[in-house]
Amino acid sequence: MVDFTKVPSPCFILDEELLERNLAKIDYVRRESGAEIIVALKACAMWSIFPILAQHSDGATASSLAEARLVFEEYGARAHTYAPVYAEREFEEIMRYSDHITFNSVSQFERFGQRALLRGISCGLRINPEYSPVETDLYNPCVKGSRLGVTRAELGELPDGIEGLHFHVLCESRPEHLRKAFAAVEEHFGDLLGKIEWLNCGGGHLMTHADYDCDELIAVIREFRSRHPHLRIILEPGSAFTWRTGFLTSTVEDIVRNGGVNTAMLDVSFACHMPDCLEMPYKPAIIGAHDPQVGEKRWRMGGNSCLAGDYCGDWAFDRDPEAGDLIVFEDMIHYTMVKTTMFNGVSHPSIAIARKNGEIEMIKEFGYEDFKSRMS
Ligand SMILES: Cc1ncc(COP(=O)(O)O)c(C=O)c1O
Repeated sequence: MVDFTKVPSPCFILDEELLERNLAKIDYVRRESGAEIIVALKACAMWSIFPILAQHSDGATASSLAEARLVFEEYGARAHTYAPVYAEREFEEIMRYSDHITFNSVSQFERFGQRALLRGISCGLRINPEYSPVETDLYNPCVKGSRLGVTRAELGELPDGIEGLHFHVLCESRPEHLRKAFAAVEEHFGDLLGKIEWLNCGGGHLMTHADYDCDELIAVIREFRSRHPHLRIILEPGSAFTWRTGFLTSTVEDIVRNGGVNTAMLDVSFACHMPDCLEMPYKPAIIGAHDPQVGEKRWRMGGNSCLAGDYCGDWAFDRDPEAGDLIVFEDMIHYTMVKTTMFNGVSHPSIAIARKNGEIEMIKEFGYEDFKSRMS
């Protein structure tokens, strides 16, 4: 167990041992399924771990110029890039850092595709197979009228020069959902599969979740490959790489009581440092805390921004929290660090890695200059 007292508060800490456990599962799927698994930067752009990730993945996927450049500079390869829309002023540079570029629409391919093809970049088109198991509209790429990907009704013929198709319809999903997604792709785009070289199956394959059946995933991919043996199958999960690999530590600075509500005021903010807790919303796990039972004292955790809704709860503790106590939130690496803001100028959590040998390596600490440099 990581010694949380050894890092400054607040701090994101990635546990190298937990990361390696995930990577072993991903390697197993890569080996047994014959699919290429590339890492989606959008979930975790913590580039100090890219050298480790690069040993256990077949590339990296970027969703912007900045991510593509980071892949090129720190992961050491050219990116598979897909962005919902490309802008003229960025496209030249995107091409420099990418060897696959997927377009969200035929018109974007018509605008930029020839230039990419002349550079030897493999071009793809994002399709919308009109199936997604995601129930929350905010995260459902196939919601009615979605702007993400081309439906079969809109597509017609496959434009010359398109070598790959890309779909992303899953989110923290299971193998049975990929099986259904494959069926939807075959139903709507089956006639095009013989004309392309690769199929990118997007992210959302949460193969490192304790209940995920990797052998079923392998079987689903093998079945699909047996029907389309000429295709390179690419999966681009993000969450699966850094799922449950680390923590956000914080400190109780004050206790506020109002009308029977107890709030432990922290030196972190849900709005700034754990935005998904408010957006999704969901209640994160805290080490040593549990869901309150009837009659138990309930505690909210209060963020240090001025947003009235910057709190989460409720939790119960064996002992009442006091100023100075450490509060450690679990599973705070994927889709957290990348989503943080410096709203209110509140102190930004440091970044550390707990190495396998027990040493804690401080990677980055932030200060006033980081806040100032984002403003003018
Ligand atoms: C196009 C695309 N690829 C990959 C991913 C990664 O998904 P996940 O982190 O759920 O595996 C996303 C996430 O939104 C995405 O939009």
